[in-house]
Amino acid sequence: MICVGEVISLLKERFTQDRYRHSLGVAKEAERLARREGLDEEKAYLGGLLHDYAKGLDEEELRRLGRLSSWDIDDDELAMPELLHAPAGAYLVQQELGVKDPEIIEAIRYHTIGSPTMGKLAVIIYIADYIEPNRDFPGVENARGEVEKGIVPGIITITSNLIKYNIDRGRLIHPNTLLLRNAYLRRTT
Ligand SMILES: [Fe+2]
Ligand SMILES: [Fe+2]
Repeated sequence: MICVGEVISLLKERFTQDRYRHSLGVAKEAERLARREGLDEEKAYLGGLLHDYAKGLDEEELRRLGRLSSWDIDDDELAMPELLHAPAGAYLVQQELGVKDPEIIEAIRYHTIGSPTMGKLAVIIYIADYIEPNRDFPGVENARGEVEKGIVPGIITITSNLIKYNIDRGRLIHPNTLLLRNAYLRRTT
């Protein structure tokens, strides 16, 4: 499997400066959360670096890669092309970089829509993508504070923010986001 150093030089070449900076931010934040939660820090760092691997490819290519992958991509996900870099990226890192770790693959695949059953590594990358230090939007500070209290309040706050954001704009909400929120809310009752 490709090593962290190789991934960093690859992304530097492949990404715009902003996307490169974001990916490094997600990697560092995921590493920090992995340390806190007792998970594999190196895996979290690599997953963070790779999570947006397919971002920037054109829509037709993303759809083609999605079809080639064995991921179940439903009608709601297909209707939101900005989400397709997740399943396409999970496929591409296996094909192009030889990444085989199932937790990293799962984290990339679900970093956009989430999943109520995703594992701990996928959960921290989902969180890191939302709160990494370069992120600056209304609600991010509150989300950072909730993540400091724990993974459960962090996930509830992030999914709630995403659902509210999309409702306010009359946009589709992927059902997984709701299922993820419900699954974590049930843990608190
Ligand atoms: Fe992404
Ligand atoms: Fe991202």
